[in-house]
Amino acid sequence: MRQAIAATIAALEAHRLDLGHRSIASLFDDDPSRFDSYSARLDDVVFDYSKHGLDAHALSLLIQLARDAGLETARDALFGGEKINLTEGRPVMHMALRNMSGKPVHVEGADVIPDVLAVREAFLSFAEAIRSGAICGSTGEPFTDVVNIGIGGSDLGPAMAARALSPFRGNGPRTHFVSNVDGADIADTLAPLDLSRALFIVSSKTFTTQETMTNAASARARVAEALGEAAIGDHFAAVSTKLDLVEEFGIKPDRVFGFWDWVGGRYSIWSAIGLALAIGIGRKNFEDFLRGAHDVDNHFIQAPLEDNIPVLMALIGVWYRNIWDYSAHAVIPYDQRLGRFTAYLQQLDMESNGKSVRRGGEDTLMDTAPVIWGEPGPNGQHAFFQMLHQGSEPVPVDFLVAAEPVEADRHHHALLVANCLAQSEALMRGRSRREVNELLRASGMKKPDIDRLGPHKVFAGNRPSSTLMYRRLDPYTLGRLIALYEHKVFVQSVIWDINAFDQWGVELGKELCSTLAPAVIHDDSPTDTLHPATAGLIGWRRSLKSAQ
Ligand code: F6P
Repeated sequence: MRQAIAATIAALEAHRLDLGHRSIASLFDDDPSRFDSYSARLDDVVFDYSKHGLDAHALSLLIQLARDAGLETARDALFGGEKINLTEGRPVMHMALRNMSGKPVHVEGADVIPDVLAVREAFLSFAEAIRSGAICGSTGEPFTDVVNIGIGGSDLGPAMAARALSPFRGNGPRTHFVSNVDGADIADTLAPLDLSRALFIVSSKTFTTQETMTNAASARARVAEALGEAAIGDHFAAVSTKLDLVEEFGIKPDRVFGFWDWVGGRYSIWSAIGLALAIGIGRKNFEDFLRGAHDVDNHFIQAPLEDNIPVLMALIGVWYRNIWDYSAHAVIPYDQRLGRFTAYLQQLDMESNGKSVRRGGEDTLMDTAPVIWGEPGPNGQHAFFQMLHQGSEPVPVDFLVAAEPVEADRHHHALLVANCLAQSEALMRGRSRREVNELLRASGMKKPDIDRLGPHKVFAGNRPSSTLMYRRLDPYTLGRLIALYEHKVFVQSVIWDINAFDQWGVELGKELCSTLAPAVIHDDSPTDTLHPATAGLIGWRRSLKSAQ
């Protein structure tokens, strides 16, 4: 298998040299209907990949690469509930959480759907009861605010989605998200809230994460202080796989919602980790969100590789990462409400594929996850787009844009879309020195000034981008967008032969933090056993504190 991959990579590299002299814009000159041939559709969603330096031969080699890597077999293993998370000995079955087909889904021989449905029913009924006021706080007042306390996958998913779907809140409570152990996070979040009308959800798969447990303890103390110890049971709920630890914290058993170790943290938005979101948008919208992701699962399983959107997204990423050696990838939603979408994808992509060891323990043969970054446009246009247009290394971009707004002015939205389309075209077309000179001449500029200014106004162009356009950002579409990226990440992990479902790289820092925390907390604690670099900074901090 590895030999076949090496041969296909070599063929792709050779083809890159052939294609290298062709600009993307010139591919359109040859084939003005390129948009039709280089775009894939899933109902109202179009994935436009026409603005890439790709031709039919490059695409067929990339598809060949996916086959060489055994993508179809790996996909069957994923959906078949095999223990593909080798280092943790677990299957990966978050897709079961959004399986709306009613058919059984087997994990290690047992159908998990009855349990999935029972937990889903429990947390959605709880969400509805909070929304309707049937469940109230200790003073008998309905909840107006819900505070999710979690971090990483227990925060980013519900926080990102609650913001994206804010127009779907109706009369439901406001949602807030506290993640950082920085006390400013919880202090600023709680400052405007009436605690008698606030519900706290402690979300943690392991229920041991330092940041979350510290914030949960502070919230508990604040509620006990404001409303009395007896109010804790009325103002807290929890989502975790560690039900025994939750019980120790003192949360009522009927407010604890579980999930399973076959759901990775960054894939857990579909589980009860989505509780804050479900309270925010209600049962029907949450079910639409699941349905969107489920429909993408079916697309990923059924669509031929050539028309399979997550497969194409992944292969285009591999083309730039491994054949062109580009180290970054920007995701720019032209949608203010997707303001946290790229941060969410950073965890999804970089915690999954930011690895240098293959599944069998050997070093990787290819570069893996690029740096994923971005902010919504057009704000980014007035900040970092300078680098996208004229920086020294091209950065492939994913643009995301809705055809119509959910709840926003239509004229504003038309301008938003125009900006999005203009940027991807500008990145591709660029502006040559000849065009610059002509424009400057036409403006009346003299030759010495044109010679001086001209080079700065040139855009090399030929900068690639994809565009995902969908009808509107509703729960169903957000579910589809997330699932498209989830499967993209999976396909890349198969090609790179890495386990996308563990995250050992986060452990060392956590361990060191618990070792050195006492020396930071207690100023009289000795530092001589610590690394001199760390001891130096602790010493400097102590001197700053004592100088106050
Ligand atoms: O430290 C990384 C991580 O384990 C993520 O993978 C996870 O999403 C996050 O921490 C939170 O973990 P937990 O839900 O167990 O608190």
